[in-house]
Amino acid sequence: MAFSRVILPALALASAVLAQNNDVCDGPSITIVTSGDAAKIAGCETYDGDIIIDPTAQGIIAINGVQQITGDFTCINATQVTAITSDQINTIQGTWHLERLTIMSNLQFDSLTGVNNIEWIALPALQSLNFAQGIQRANSVIISNTQLTNIDGIELTAVGTLNVNNNNYLTDVNVNDLKNITSALSFSANGRDLAISFPNLEQAANLTFRNVSKIDMPSLSSVAGDMGFYSDTFKSFTAPNLTQTGGSLAFVDSPSLTSFAFPSLQTIGGGFLVANNTNLKAINGLPKLATIIGALDFAGTFNSVTMNKLTDVRGGSNVQTTSTNTTICDLFNSAHSNGVIKGVNTCLTSKANPETNPSATSGGTSSTSTSSSSSSNAAVAFGPATPMTGLGALLAAIFFI
Ligand SMILES: *[C@@H]1O[C@H](CO)[C@@H](O)[C@H](O)[C@H]1NC(C)=O
Ligand SMILES: *[C@@H]1O[C@H](CO)[C@@H](O)[C@H](O)[C@H]1NC(C)=O
Ligand SMILES: *[C@@H]1O[C@H](CO)[C@@H](O)[C@H](O)[C@H]1NC(C)=O
Ligand SMILES: *[C@@H]1O[C@H](CO)[C@@H](O)[C@H](O)[C@H]1NC(C)=O
Ligand SMILES: *[C@@H]1O[C@H](CO)[C@@H](O)[C@H](O)[C@H]1NC(C)=O
Ligand SMILES: *[C@@H]1O[C@H](CO)[C@@H](O)[C@H](O)[C@H]1NC(C)=O
Ligand SMILES: *[C@@H]1O[C@H](CO)[C@@H](O)[C@H](O)[C@H]1NC(C)=O
Repeated sequence: MAFSRVILPALALASAVLAQNNDVCDGPSITIVTSGDAAKIAGCETYDGDIIIDPTAQGIIAINGVQQITGDFTCINATQVTAITSDQINTIQGTWHLERLTIMSNLQFDSLTGVNNIEWIALPALQSLNFAQGIQRANSVIISNTQLTNIDGIELTAVGTLNVNNNNYLTDVNVNDLKNITSALSFSANGRDLAISFPNLEQAANLTFRNVSKIDMPSLSSVAGDMGFYSDTFKSFTAPNLTQTGGSLAFVDSPSLTSFAFPSLQTIGGGFLVANNTNLKAINGLPKLATIIGALDFAGTFNSVTMNKLTDVRGGSNVQTTSTNTTICDLFNSAHSNGVIKGVNTCLTSKANPETNPSATSGGTSSTSTSSSSSSNAAVAFGPATPMTGLGALLAAIFFI
């Protein structure tokens, strides 16, 4: 092993000089059918162009010697390829596009640490990654329709977009070093028991979790975009350090959900949607939430709503629940008349089929206040932060303190 690590780079360097004289390393592309074709660029420290593995390639394709690729690395429809390996490629500056490789079961890259874009689609025989160093840098990563059970080997510290979908066997995602997601992360339709852990993730942009059974993000402190949870199977979610979102926050269609907790959250930069979570009986866990920039939209079977510090909802509110607890609507109506809720307020208890953002409301115990209130008395209706008078104060005193 010492031989290949120490001697080979020296040989590669020597032949790179020769090769570069031959312009073999200058691209613009090389099409590889066999490992023999790949040997032509083995002497290139940097291959300045695209590497294409031909659809007719078969068996194991080894691309050894070459260390960097300035262009794309593409292999599409090579249904007879069983493995793609490389001992020395450390950087792919373009897109690494692997698609419809029906029997490829081994992806072994011993030195790879950086790829601009990863696009792996329809790799139904790929069960694990074999990356000795781990990929630490990537701008975008799409992993779709593989047989991966985990993504160990993707050891990112930061990423622009990460989209992981339709990997039916994926049950475990733990990217320990990931600190920053600068554009969007999305998980959907993976393994039924997918548990996701980003222990050190601090900053994220858009976050979407669909069909996930567990999510752990203890360090998350700020989300620049939207944060949404859809059709998930976890019972509870907590983001202990999250102080603000730039976009909306949504919990939708998660029948197992009984609670969520955002003990540090002060501002939701968009709307706040909670809908169709049949076992969510109390909407609380938002002890510091003061501002919702968009609309508030709650539909479900919840019996209580508690937001002690809420002072400003820029949009309207729609609240519909099967519960008979009319106090919920007393609360929202007074928040509207106190100017906390700026837009139209619709609140319905005893509603058989609670609806989000209804165009027309019918049935249930209607309690709607749609007039715009005078804004001079923008007092607190959901909490005791400032002194209040009248119904708002009474309700706050009785139900929220
Ligand atoms: C791959 O195969 C699909 C369907 O068989 C075809 O539509 C597509 O054009 C092929 N792409 C390439 C790059 O060969
Ligand atoms: C995340 O990335 C953004 C944009 O590149 C940067 O401003 C921010 O400091 C980074 N945060 C962390 C925790 O690394
Ligand atoms: C979040 O996604 C939306 C819609 O795709 C996009 O407009 C927005 O820029 C994203 N936010 C961030 C912070 O990347
Ligand atoms: C994921 O959730 C969607 C609804 O958001 C549902 O239609 C789909 O069947 C679910 N997929 C899996 C694999 O659970
Ligand atoms: C939460 O935030 C506090 C204060 O910024 C910090 O000291 C603590 O380490 C964070 N917790 C986690 C799990 O990151
Ligand atoms: C809630 O469920 C109802 C009935 O299945 C559906 O019509 C509605 O679109 C769902 N709402 C959301 C926000 O998913
Ligand atoms: C009714 O709703 C109020 C406000 O959320 C809450 O404090 C109270 O506990 C609820 N009552 C019942 C019986 O759930």
